[in-house]
Amino acid sequence: MTQTERSVHPESLAAQALGWVDATTRAISPPIHASTTFIRDEDNQYRSGRIYARADNPAFDQAEQLIAALERGAQGALFASGMAAATAVFQSLAPGDHVLAPQVMYWSLRNWLMNFATAWGLKVQLVDMTSPDAVRAALQSGKTKLVWIETPANPLWSVTDIAATAALAHAVGARVAVDSTVATPVLTRPLELGADLVMHAATKYLNGHSDLIAGVLVTRVDDEFWKRVKTVRAQLGGTLGSFESWLLLRGMRTLYLRVHAASQSAQRLAEHFAAHRRVSHVLYPGLRDAPGHAIAARQMQGGFGGMLSIRVAGGETAAIATAAHIALWKRATSLGGTESLVEHRASIEGAGTPAPADLLRLSVGLEHVDDLIADLEQALARAHG
Ligand SMILES: Cc1ncc(COP(=O)(O)O)c(C=O)c1O
Repeated sequence: MTQTERSVHPESLAAQALGWVDATTRAISPPIHASTTFIRDEDNQYRSGRIYARADNPAFDQAEQLIAALERGAQGALFASGMAAATAVFQSLAPGDHVLAPQVMYWSLRNWLMNFATAWGLKVQLVDMTSPDAVRAALQSGKTKLVWIETPANPLWSVTDIAATAALAHAVGARVAVDSTVATPVLTRPLELGADLVMHAATKYLNGHSDLIAGVLVTRVDDEFWKRVKTVRAQLGGTLGSFESWLLLRGMRTLYLRVHAASQSAQRLAEHFAAHRRVSHVLYPGLRDAPGHAIAARQMQGGFGGMLSIRVAGGETAAIATAAHIALWKRATSLGGTESLVEHRASIEGAGTPAPADLLRLSVGLEHVDDLIADLEQALARAHG
């Protein structure tokens, strides 16, 4: 981090994408480096440090340094998707290593852990990550190498205490990685709370426009494990494209405005539907009576995020009918875009999902919150006929 990066607010760093100006053209928006290969010096060296774009690409530099600065980490690395970033962490471990992951987490990563990581030899144990007692009981001294946290966690928005979990993990020599996709660096900085790595599905809030698949990791220190992670990226090839890196940098310029607006609207929606007769539960860490509210209030600053879920009175049929009658929200998977999305989560997660059958997951976008409330109101009324 430079002196300027330390002295200004993160909003200013994001708005100017660190303020870099292209050295050759004086352009404020960077060029898109499309080259896959770089010139070798006449004396057979590669002094530029650039060899081949599967391993590294100048198109990554600004976005990686911006996200590292926002997370207060040593380095960032872009990946071709959130899944490529997350799996690179697990693939940097060794067969036989014991890892803890949450029972409630992004379902595709849980599926990969249970079906592929275990086949490769990782000992994956799912625990209630919201319970320090459960984590303490599951940790195996010297054997547990990684604790994976997601907070707030899909699709129930359960909250894990990052600082408490990191202290437990470090006491037995395990690293801690946090999927902070939903919190974003705007609301939570896991590295400052003791985590070793932060992961984002940059597909979501970091880019913010539903037009890019990308992932990112940030490390607290540039150590041997981080070098392995970068080697996994280079050799397995989960590398982001040049245009996608450019798009991601553009999206991150408005990150703070978008996340704050979505959080405010989500809080309004949660409070509005909390006492609604057609909604049995609202799951949102910003509600005072939410199970993780006290921890969330401590480790999230400036809001509780743009994601919430509602459980529709009347069960699965009423929930699916509500989604069917929605007009302004879009019926689609994913999250973190400018447009609000609604999804019957159990339908996409399938067997083994912790999502109750009556649950609708809501990704709150940037529309006027009164329009979002009115649309959900009419959809609930029509579903209940
Ligand atoms: C919390 C979370 N983590 C990871 C991912 C995976 O990201 P991607 O779809 O970019 O691979 C997602 C995607 O929905 C997610 O919501």
